[in-house]
Amino acid sequence: MLVVKVLGAAAGGGFPQWNANSAACRRARSGDPAAPVATQASIAVSVDERHWYLTNASPDLRQQIEADRALHPAEGLRSSPIAGVILTNGDVDAIAGLLHLREGTAFSLYANTAVMSILDANPIFNVLAPEFVPRRLLREDEWQPVRDAGGGESGLSVKSFRVPGKVPLYLEEADDIATAAEDGNTLGLEFRADGCGFFYVANCAAITAALAERITGCDLLFFDGTLFSDDEMIRQNAGSKTGRRMGHMSLSGECGSMAQLAPLDIKRTIFIHINNTNPILLSDSPKRREVEEAGFEVAYDGMEIRL
Ligand code: MLT
Ligand code: MN
Repeated sequence: MLVVKVLGAAAGGGFPQWNANSAACRRARSGDPAAPVATQASIAVSVDERHWYLTNASPDLRQQIEADRALHPAEGLRSSPIAGVILTNGDVDAIAGLLHLREGTAFSLYANTAVMSILDANPIFNVLAPEFVPRRLLREDEWQPVRDAGGGESGLSVKSFRVPGKVPLYLEEADDIATAAEDGNTLGLEFRADGCGFFYVANCAAITAALAERITGCDLLFFDGTLFSDDEMIRQNAGSKTGRRMGHMSLSGECGSMAQLAPLDIKRTIFIHINNTNPILLSDSPKRREVEEAGFEVAYDGMEIRL
């Protein structure tokens, strides 16, 4: 069996975002059940429900751990069911949570060379001492067994692959950065265990023919749900960037993810990494209805899937 838990459904900043005073964020703050609070995107995967492997370490990880008993320490005075972390990119919302995992409990850390070089170059990540937290290369386009810090098998295998995306915001230098480059700054992941599997492709700027072919017919896909409309942040006075500029494809429109994914015969597609401006976070919004009527699902914190 493969168990997947959504620890966080929101994009960078979460929902509500600390400095956002939009109607939607106010609804979330007031406890409106149709505007459920969402932490920053991450999932946990397990075969035995005792050892969990995280995809990305969100800045909200401490809160995410406390929210789910499965992630609480269960053995001795110091331990954690978190056996490893697999990174898909070097954005703040994907790596900052690693800092919560200091304190000397062992887990394995997987990243490709692009993301590993970000960690290696920043001494703050040395709080994860190598004797407890071995850094392992996440190989691209190759199945690899996911192991804990001591090399113990998890029963889980992962294959990473490049998807269109961009460098983390804090590494942007030129104005003309490639926002849909397949340069290793953004990875998709495919997980397999016991004959079942699924894909995690958050942070994706475009569905290329190769990506479409890869995910066609799959049982479960988590896909980037940052924005509903490419210009929604501008229209809501929430920022000056389009989704495209941020390296994300939006849900709506002819070139949007819903239209591109619809013909791919995927059993379940769940949008994750959803920005606080995206109306699909509101369960009573017309856009949410549109997404669900088209056969797609919207991730929420605490969502659990058994394959
Ligand atoms: C993104 O997904 O575009 C990033 O999380 C943005 C950010 O780092 O704030
Ligand atoms: Mn992000």
